[in-house]
Amino acid sequence: MNFPVVAKEINLAESLGAQQSNASIAETAVPSYLSEVYDWAYLNPRNVALLDRTLVVDVLLFGNARRLMRAATNEIKPGQKVLMAAHVYGDFVNKLANAVGPTGHLDIIDVAPIQIAHARQKVGHLPQVSIRQADAAGPHDNDYDMVLSFFLLHEVPDGKKRSIVDALLAGVKPGGKAVFVDYGRPSRLQPIRYILDFVNERLEPFAKALWRHEISEYAGEPEAYHWRKKSFFGGVYQKVVVKKR
Ligand SMILES: C[S@@+](CC[C@H](N)C(=O)[O-])C[C@H]1O[C@@H](n2cnc3c(N)ncnc32)[C@H](O)[C@@H]1O
Repeated sequence: MNFPVVAKEINLAESLGAQQSNASIAETAVPSYLSEVYDWAYLNPRNVALLDRTLVVDVLLFGNARRLMRAATNEIKPGQKVLMAAHVYGDFVNKLANAVGPTGHLDIIDVAPIQIAHARQKVGHLPQVSIRQADAAGPHDNDYDMVLSFFLLHEVPDGKKRSIVDALLAGVKPGGKAVFVDYGRPSRLQPIRYILDFVNERLEPFAKALWRHEISEYAGEPEAYHWRKKSFFGGVYQKVVVKKR
């Protein structure tokens, strides 16, 4: 089957910005958890083309996508500099670009070249947006008003959760914040809990760690920060806003 290989090369070429060389693409390797567990969802070109829609995200989040996206964009003020730690399917990157506005700046990173290509197709033309291949585990600039991880942590192994949380916290400038939107621990009265249990067992091996651990537990120095958590949909989802003490 030649098609997927050719498509991958085309997307890789599209994903290269003028500022990004082949050498830097090679340096940011696609992590093994991504190719071994999530190839079908994030690397396979045909599936990526099918899945990159807001409707898909909304179905996966049991109708909560818009509410959770709004919970994240409400944290942004026009003119701010924001780091988006991974590409998200659908129109969320457009909403983030609108939230920072023409006087702000949105940096979108993703570790997968094909995801970079998709982000470029959606918002690459906007002057306030820059997009590049990079690992959320950093290092990052340290002058962001806000860094955002949206449903990234549940898809990475625990060691990687720690590196990502610490790298994102280090990217926040004094007075700024980190925002994590992800799965939490669902209440036993929430029937979706049992569906997710089934799905996680088969498709999302790193997700249930967020049922057992607070996101603050992944930080190297949690006491240095103030952690504010809000639960959604009977605990299925959480938003955690983190500010330096
Ligand atoms: C944000 S998460 C899940 C988002 C959500 N399920 C959606 O609908 O898109 C998926 C993205 O994370 C990216 N990703 C995984 N590990 C990463 C890492 N260490 N650094 C940056 N991006 C990463 C994947 O390439 C993928 O594009």
